[in-house]
Amino acid sequence: MLQISAEHEAAVQELQIAFEDEANAQARYVAFASKANDEGLLGAASLFRAAARAEHIHAASHAWVMSQFGQNAHCAIHPFQPKSTLENLKEALAGERFEVDSLYPDCLKEVAACNILTATRTFTRALEAEKTHALLFEWAIAHIEDEIGSSPMAAPRDFFVCPGCGLMAAELDEDEDCSVCNSLRDRFETVR
Ligand SMILES: [Fe+2]
Ligand SMILES: [Fe+2]
Repeated sequence: MLQISAEHEAAVQELQIAFEDEANAQARYVAFASKANDEGLLGAASLFRAAARAEHIHAASHAWVMSQFGQNAHCAIHPFQPKSTLENLKEALAGERFEVDSLYPDCLKEVAACNILTATRTFTRALEAEKTHALLFEWAIAHIEDEIGSSPMAAPRDFFVCPGCGLMAAELDEDEDCSVCNSLRDRFETVR
């Protein structure tokens, strides 16, 4: 690895922390999607697959910024045990809220003094995208807990993921570009 300035060291540390968080979230969501399939909650499985894709986008973005400083992102995937899908959704929601309320605000605070635009941008985009993840997990939990008839969690369904920032949506207008990173609507990925 290249030597980096002390000025950039704090930013790299925060990028590494965020990369590890996102990579672990991705791994959990892949496993949670499999569990949801087993339980016949195919819509929840779709949601977890879309969220896994979004967390991959975040992890890759953080890793790219690190690479600009000559640093390689790395992490261990921590052991976890999938539970019921409802419990997994609640764990996912808690993780998203942690990212929105704590992780990314702390990351942004740390890099504020560094004036590194790429680090600020990747954290800001992830923070805003995680808010959309939390809303979708809340929505899924409410549908399962309330046992709403013809639940949207029962059948596979499309979710839309912005490739630029990992924003997620259950529905998109035809002409609605990304509200976070301005990626064009046509570039959104459909995950089912
Ligand atoms: Fe997320
Ligand atoms: Fe976006």
